[in-house]
Amino acid sequence: MSATVVLGLAWGDEGKGRVCDAMAREARYVARYSGGNNAGHTIRVGKEEFVVHLIPSGIVREGVICTIGNGVVVNPEVLAQEVEELEERGIEVKSRLKVDGRAHLILPYHIRLDGHREKVLGKAKIGTTNRGIGPAYEDKVARVGLRVQDVFDDGILRQKLKGALREKNALFTNVYGEEPFDPDELAEYLLSFQELLEPMMADTGALLRDALYRDEEVLLEGAQATLLDNDFGTYPFVTSSNPSAGGACVGAGIPPGLLGEVVGVTKAYTTRVGDGPFPTELFDETGETLRRVGHEYGATTGRPRRCGWLDLVAVGYSARLNGVTTLALTMLDVLSAVEEIQVCTGYEVDGEWTGGLPLSQTDLHHAKPVYETLPGWDVDVTGCRRREELPEEARDFVGFVEEQLGAPLRMISVGPERDQAIVERVGV
Ligand code: GDP
Ligand code: IMO
Ligand code: MG
Repeated sequence: MSATVVLGLAWGDEGKGRVCDAMAREARYVARYSGGNNAGHTIRVGKEEFVVHLIPSGIVREGVICTIGNGVVVNPEVLAQEVEELEERGIEVKSRLKVDGRAHLILPYHIRLDGHREKVLGKAKIGTTNRGIGPAYEDKVARVGLRVQDVFDDGILRQKLKGALREKNALFTNVYGEEPFDPDELAEYLLSFQELLEPMMADTGALLRDALYRDEEVLLEGAQATLLDNDFGTYPFVTSSNPSAGGACVGAGIPPGLLGEVVGVTKAYTTRVGDGPFPTELFDETGETLRRVGHEYGATTGRPRRCGWLDLVAVGYSARLNGVTTLALTMLDVLSAVEEIQVCTGYEVDGEWTGGLPLSQTDLHHAKPVYETLPGWDVDVTGCRRREELPEEARDFVGFVEEQLGAPLRMISVGPERDQAIVERVGV
């Protein structure tokens, strides 16, 4: 059995949680492999809405075991809160959640640093979620990070905290004029999470590998998305991890040969939260319509999402980079609100046409979208459950997306509810 990856093809919020929830019906394990609580994944079950930031979406499906992989950065306070909130809503979490002992911790000084970094950047700010994600990954790579397992060794914990704070406290006091962090106070704070973490801590990669060898279904749930990938995204306006398919292997502890289906999720239009280039962004009434009808406000920070037309240049680049085998298209119902649909199939960069995402960041900033216009359908599609039930214009639109991206659709989402989808089982 091989693992299935579900990942975003744009700048996040494509509906990965919704797609994972649908696919989790048949999964035994659902694993997060990158990012932290910068994510916000929404799952609608009837009248209930769940927004998970750190715990995989699979938790909402009874019996599914969820893992937080080594590639994730974990804020223990957020973890405790999320577990408690879900349990209060009647979802059994503690017996079904495992956290990798290698996962790095987000500490209060990372969050404070995140804020300072953004302030220093001024107009060039990234627009982070201010959850301490970047500084926590920096510490991981700099080899001064603290990991989940460190919470169980008092001596090492204090020693590592002292080491991690040596430079940071100099920065807080000398540059930012703030009080330093006390390593012993932070040690006590972290020790208070022992009880929560002890039964959860595991080698999650080993769990997933064993499950795959036993022929059990494993779903890897991407957070953020390909164009926010630290290597392949619109750097520096990216996150600090690798949400793309390669990151799934490293962040979940799964050998590349055990990756099977790669499901690329895209909206029927495009959104972005935070700063950075977005060639198809709309500043007009149509952009407002997409935001209003699609309820495009961040699930984590509540910020209004920037909205624009579907950018097949950018999404196509992501599809090829990840080697997507199937696609999931979300928010098709939202396009019912616009009369005519534009789809970006190329860019003009300084007078020259290109069909690919420019390697040069400067060129991307100068890119002007070249559109193909497709007719709208002006019909409510939320009740459609088979592709044939869609109006002809909508069928043409989804067919166009498949053809341009070179992969078949396995799911077309026509609303946020569990049953509001056209599910097509392609080659599985
Ligand atoms: P994620 O971060 O990729 O999991 O996506 P988010 O949860 O941040 O944002 C997606 C939003 O769109 C959520 O509010 C979902 O409930 C909603 N949603 C998902 N699929 C559809 C759809 O097909 N139609 C509509 N109208 N809403 C959808
Ligand atoms: P999900 O999983 C949308 C964006 C931030 C910012 C940039 C860097 O819900 O799709 P960070 O806090 O990671 O250092 O911020 O990345 N960003 C997201 N945008 N959805 C997300 O997650 C995001 N996670 C980070 O807005 O532009
Ligand atoms: Mg989201």
